[in-house]
Amino acid sequence: MCGIVGYVGAQQAAPILLDGLTRLEYRGYDSAGVAIYDGAELKVAKAKGRLQVLSDLIQGGAAIPGTVGIGHTRWATHGAPSDVNSHPQVSRSGRIAVVHNGIIENYAALKQFLVDQGVPFASETDTEVVAQLIEYFYHGDLLQAVGRVLHRIQGAYALGILCADCPDQLIAVRRDSPLILGIGAGENFLASDVTALIRHTREVIYMEDGELAVLTREGIQCYNHFLQPVDKEISHVDWEIDAAEKGGYEHFMFKEIMEQPQALRRAVFPRIRDGEVYLEDFGLSDAYIRSLRKIYIVACGSSYHVGMVGKYSLERVLRIPVEVSLASEFRYRDPIVGEGTLVLVISQSGETLDTMAALRQAKKLGAQVLSIVNVVGSSIARESDVVLYTWAGPEIAVATTKAYTTQLAVLDLLGLYFARRLGTLEEEEYHAILQELLLLPAKMEQVLEHREDIQYYASQYFNHDSVFYIGRNLDYALGLEGSLKLKEISYIHSEAYAAGELKHGTISLIEDGTLVVALATYDALFDKAMNNVVEVKSRGADVLALTTQAHREAMETLASGLITIPDTHPMLLPSLGVVPLQLYAYYVALMRGCDIDKPRNLAKSVTVE
Ligand code: M6R
Repeated sequence: MCGIVGYVGAQQAAPILLDGLTRLEYRGYDSAGVAIYDGAELKVAKAKGRLQVLSDLIQGGAAIPGTVGIGHTRWATHGAPSDVNSHPQVSRSGRIAVVHNGIIENYAALKQFLVDQGVPFASETDTEVVAQLIEYFYHGDLLQAVGRVLHRIQGAYALGILCADCPDQLIAVRRDSPLILGIGAGENFLASDVTALIRHTREVIYMEDGELAVLTREGIQCYNHFLQPVDKEISHVDWEIDAAEKGGYEHFMFKEIMEQPQALRRAVFPRIRDGEVYLEDFGLSDAYIRSLRKIYIVACGSSYHVGMVGKYSLERVLRIPVEVSLASEFRYRDPIVGEGTLVLVISQSGETLDTMAALRQAKKLGAQVLSIVNVVGSSIARESDVVLYTWAGPEIAVATTKAYTTQLAVLDLLGLYFARRLGTLEEEEYHAILQELLLLPAKMEQVLEHREDIQYYASQYFNHDSVFYIGRNLDYALGLEGSLKLKEISYIHSEAYAAGELKHGTISLIEDGTLVVALATYDALFDKAMNNVVEVKSRGADVLALTTQAHREAMETLASGLITIPDTHPMLLPSLGVVPLQLYAYYVALMRGCDIDKPRNLAKSVTVE
């Protein structure tokens, strides 16, 4: 949500800012703006709507010359999307400009204080309060003024600040909202996401909470909350620029679906050596693993659905109770996290605010926190006791695909690693699962090769206004993800139900022509799944079924449409089963003409509550 880019150097800033903001478009926004120092004063241009509107307004940047500037894509929180509420927000003199991600929780009281001092406000935003307050405290030393403001504002924020009185520098500030500094030659950058920087530099500094940084052409100096200089480690970003480009595909989502076998190879292959699971820098001792009494999985959205699969698969192989909790619920429910409890946090972005808050709460309660994260150096990764990266590469489409499958794979590896230490899996089964994990990318390729069948079914059913996903056990967990994929990008109402629950209410919604996606991949419960298919068919439902090769024949006679996936170990079925569901949602959304990569009202990373 929201994006920040800043540049100081010798090149023209505006085109660099526009390009950086384009790379952040995927995060979701409703307006955009830039502030550039033109040699005499700050020039600000802002526009509601797509970035193209802003770009046209400033002629691709040519209309605002200058070599230092800040840019922003805004997702409205305080004040409706409008030109005036867009960022940068400026102080009353127009000499201080601020871009901001996050929320200033005590902005109303601060605004009142400033209004009482006679400061006029132009916008409804919390961000303008920051710009005005900096000016209020500014008496020739910008860093000191920003420091004083930081002691007064509460909330989550990443800030980029530019002042006409010291136009050779930018100030960056971070608390609970990501901000990354990019180091160039004779130029430096700031951005809320590494994708905005990667065309210019691969050397980055990850700011910590409470830190400030002063960027000039010559260098970057970071400071702690007390304005004492701190030395920072420089990290190298090693993924290719192509990873964040569409590379000939029409949509990022489709590209990312197709990338899954390769992403799985990266996540899994280096972690299996000589028939054993190897987890890099794994900080949990065998004694700790043996002392485990309970595992909490905490996450949001699709990452939560990975947790739902994890509940079934981890309990099966570890014989330890696993409780899955939505991060937004966990944080307010006074969770019972005692000795012997491991909190497993799952997040693609590593910046989801609710997940982050749950992680902090778990740590406060004394739990060890292990996270499965995609974005390297993200807040959740840095604050966890142990982090396992999914190595899926940048995921740009709002609807997650390759992050989901790699999260599942890492969770499977973790389950096997623990099971080995707990002695809860027979040797033979342990090796059989490992073997299947190694075969998973190739089997997924087989599923992807048959994508035209799924496209055909999408063409048959894309007009249904309501779809039910039913399944039992792992198939139920899989249905949750299939249903979310469909609703978020095609805007079709859909629900996932544990098939055994149908009779307890939901079946009353089934009537002639209702589409039911029946998930029947789990061998142990296949007969039960068949019964549920018969049940909904006899009430008039159209049934699109998903099963394994082994059960193809049995299902063929019943379902109106049938998708099959290769046979594999039950624990890995959701990893294969999710791919046709992703493709199905994709093709349905395509046929309905939806904005697939940037669905309405959604942001890639939810950094507000
Ligand atoms: O970055 P995270 O994994 O923490 O994000 C969690 C959810 O916001 C995310 O999975 C969301 O549900 C996706 N849009 C699903 O496709």
